[in-house]
Amino acid sequence: MKGLFPIDKFKNIETPFYYYNTSLLRETLNTIKKETAQFPNYHVHYAVKANANNRILSIIRENGLGADCVSGGEIKAALKAGFPSDKIVFAGVGKADWEIKLGFESNIFCFNVESIPELDNINELASIQGKTASVALRINPNIDAHTHHYITTGLSENKFGISLIHLDSVLDHLITLKNIKLIGLHFHIGSQITDMDSFKGLCIRINEIQEHLYQRMIIVDSINVGGGLGINYEEPDKEPIPDFRSYFSVFYKHLKLRPKQELHFELGRSIICQCGSLITKVLYIKEGINKKFVIVDAGMTDLIRPALYQAYHKIENITSGLAPEEYDVVGPICESSDCFGKIVSLNATHRGDLLAIRSSGAYGEIMASQYNCRELPKAYYQDEL
Ligand code: LLP
Repeated sequence: MKGLFPIDKFKNIETPFYYYNTSLLRETLNTIKKETAQFPNYHVHYAVKANANNRILSIIRENGLGADCVSGGEIKAALKAGFPSDKIVFAGVGKADWEIKLGFESNIFCFNVESIPELDNINELASIQGKTASVALRINPNIDAHTHHYITTGLSENKFGISLIHLDSVLDHLITLKNIKLIGLHFHIGSQITDMDSFKGLCIRINEIQEHLYQRMIIVDSINVGGGLGINYEEPDKEPIPDFRSYFSVFYKHLKLRPKQELHFELGRSIICQCGSLITKVLYIKEGINKKFVIVDAGMTDLIRPALYQAYHKIENITSGLAPEEYDVVGPICESSDCFGKIVSLNATHRGDLLAIRSSGAYGEIMASQYNCRELPKAYYQDEL
C-alpha cells in the first residue's frame, strides 16, 4: 500500500481530497487500445458523467477516445478538454432546447434520441437552423443487467429509451421528419455489470432487432452498446484494470454486425474508477456501546455512493501499521446515512491517521455536493505531486 500512495506528500495537503493515479489511468487506456486494435470499426467513448475533471478528460482525450455526454454542460466540458466534436455523442432522456442547439452548433457526431416528442423537437430545431440532425434511436432492450435497481436502465418499465413495442411506430414517424437522419441504434442496460452474460443477452437482442429492421429495409451505420462494464470494488488491487479482453470479445463473438457497420461503446466506470481514491483524515475515535466509530473529515457530500446506493468501497488506513480492529467509518454530515462502512477492519486507528476510500474515481468527485455549506473536494494527481 505504501507504494500506492505518496503518504509524505499527502501530509502537507488539506483533507479531504481526491487522489488520482494517472499512471494507472494511462495503463487502463493503453489496455483498451490494445484490446480494440484488431477491430478498426470499434470506437470507445468515455462517459463523461463518471468524472468530468478537466485533467482526467484531457488524458482520456490524448488517448484518442470519444466522449459520451448527457448534458450541455458535459458537451462544454468535453470540448474544453479538446475532444473532437465529431467524436461526441449526446444522450439523455430530457434534452433542453439550448442543449440541442449546442449540439448542432458544435457539430457533434450524433444525438441518441429516446422518444417521439424529442425527435419532433430536434427535427423542428434542426429545420430552423437549416441542418439535418444525425440521430441514433435509444432502444430499451428489456435485458436485466443484474445490478443495483437504481443503476439498471434496460428493463421495459424504465424511463430510458424507446420500448420494443413502440419501435415500429417510431420508425414510421421518422420517415415523416425531413431534418432527421437515422444513423444508428443505441443501447445501455445498466452500470457495474460483472456478469458477461448480460452483455451476451444484449448482443442477441440487438441481432433480433437488426433482423427486424432489415426486413423493413433499414440498415443503420452504427450500433452503440452503451457502457456498464463493472469493476472489482472488493479487491481493487487484485484487478486494477478491468477485464477488457473478455468484455470486447463478448461483442465480437455474439454481435452480428452488418458489413461496414461501426460499433460504439460508452465506458465510464471501468476506465476511471480504480484510478481514484478519496483521502480523508480521522478527526475522532468515538466509543459507542458495542462498537467504535471512526469519524473522518470526508462526508457523503464528497462521496455519496455508500449513502445513496449502499455501495461498498474498500477503506484502508494508509498511515497506521498496527494490528487491525473493527470500526464503523462515518462522516461529519448531519444525516444518519453519512456512513462509509460498517464493521470495517482497519489497522488500529487514531486521530490524525489518513484513510483511503478506494475505487472512487467514478461517480465520486462529480457527484459531490455542498450540503452543510461544505467546500467541494479538491483533486491531486500522482504525476503532479
Ligand atoms: N451510457 C449511458 C447511456 C449511461 O447512462 C451510462 C451511465 C454510461 C454510458 C456509463 O456507464 P458505466 O460504464 O459508467 O457503467 N451514479 C451511479 C452510476 C450511474 C450510471 C449512469 N449511466 C453509481 O455511482 O454507481
